[in-house]
Amino acid sequence: MMTIPTLNKPLSNLCEQDFIKFADSACTLISQAPDENQLQELKVQLQGKKSELVALSKQMGGLDVDDKKVYGGYLHELRTRLTTAFDHQGQLLAQKALNERLTAEQIDITLPARGVPAGGLHPITKITERMKQFFVQAGFSVATGPEVESDYYNFEALNIPSHHPARAMHDTFYFDAHYLLRTHTSGVQIRTMEKNEPPLRIICPGRVYRCDSDQTHSPMFHQMEGLMISKSSNFAELKGLIHEFLDAFFGKKMTVRFRPSFFPFTEPSAEVDILSDNGKWLEVLGCGMVHPKVLQNCGINPDEYTGFAFGLGIERFAMLYYGIDDLRLFFQNDLRFLKQFG
Ligand code: FA5
Ligand code: MG
Repeated sequence: MMTIPTLNKPLSNLCEQDFIKFADSACTLISQAPDENQLQELKVQLQGKKSELVALSKQMGGLDVDDKKVYGGYLHELRTRLTTAFDHQGQLLAQKALNERLTAEQIDITLPARGVPAGGLHPITKITERMKQFFVQAGFSVATGPEVESDYYNFEALNIPSHHPARAMHDTFYFDAHYLLRTHTSGVQIRTMEKNEPPLRIICPGRVYRCDSDQTHSPMFHQMEGLMISKSSNFAELKGLIHEFLDAFFGKKMTVRFRPSFFPFTEPSAEVDILSDNGKWLEVLGCGMVHPKVLQNCGINPDEYTGFAFGLGIERFAMLYYGIDDLRLFFQNDLRFLKQFG
C-alpha cells in the first residue's frame, strides 16, 4: 500500500522547501501507480475534498495580504505539478492498456487458412436437371403445381372418384377431406390443360408424398410429369419418345421393358422397368394415352385431340445412373455420401 506524503503543519508554518518536498514525493508516488484504478484512488487522496491540499487551501482566508500572495503561489505551483503528473501517468497507463490489448488480440496472419468447403448440387437436383435438358430440347416447357393439393386435382379430375379402388394404391397423407400432400405430379396435367389451349407439351418436376418406405420407396420423393396433347399424338410416339429419352439420359443402351398396366387417367397404360446391375427389374415410370374423360374434364374435345402422359420416378433414375441400391440414402444428408457427387 502506498504512503501518502503529508505536510502536517499549519499553512503559515510551511516554507517553499516543504511544498517542493511534498510535490516531489507525491509525483513519485503518482508515477508509480500501476493501473487506472490506483491512479484514481491517489487522485482522491491528494486532490480530493478531504485531502490535505484542500484543507490547507481553506486556511488561506486567515492570512494577511502578503502571505496570501506567497502561499497562494506555493499552493498553485503544487496543484499544477500534481495535475501534470496525474495527466502524464494517465496517458502512460492508457497507452500501456492499449498495447496489452493489441498484443492479446493479435491475429496471426501467417497461420494456414481453414478453408471453406465448396457446396454442391444434390444428386437428385443434378438428375432432374439432366432430365429437363432432354425434354426442353425436345420442345417441352416446364410447369409447376402446389405440393399441398386438393382432392379434385390429385384424384377426382384424373378420373379417380372417391371410392375408386385405385386410391388405395396411393397411401395418401391427408390434411382433411379436401386437402392432401400430392401423391403424384399428375395433377399438374389438369392445371395445365385447364389454363392453356392445345397443342401442349410440358414437363413438371417436383416433390410428391406417399406413406411408403423401403429400399426403393421413400415417403417424400420426386417425380417428373410429362404431357403432350396434339391432334395426332399416339402410343407409338409416346414409346419412341421414352426410348429416345432413356438412351440420351443413360448415354448407353439399357435393357428396358414396357409392361401393360393400369391408371384411371390413361388408356391404354404401361409401366416401364429397367434391368439394373443387380439383375432386378426396377420400375422407373408410368405412362399412357390420356383418358378421354380427363380431356373432357379440362374442356378439351377428345374427338379432336389426343395426348399422352408419363410420370417418371426421379430417384429411381438416380439409383440406376449412379449405381445406388438404396433410395433412402439420398435423404439421409450424410456428407460422406453426398460428397461423392461433387
Ligand atoms: C404414378 O404416380 C402416375 N401418376 C404416373 C403416370 C403419369 C402414369 C402419367 C400415367 C400417366 P406410380 O405410382 O407408378 O404412377 O409412380 C410413378 C413412378 O414414381 C414409379 O414408377 C416409381 O419410379 C416412382 N415411385 C412411386 N412411388 C415411389 C416411392 N415411394 N419412392 C420413390 N419413387 C416412387
Ligand atoms: Mg407404379
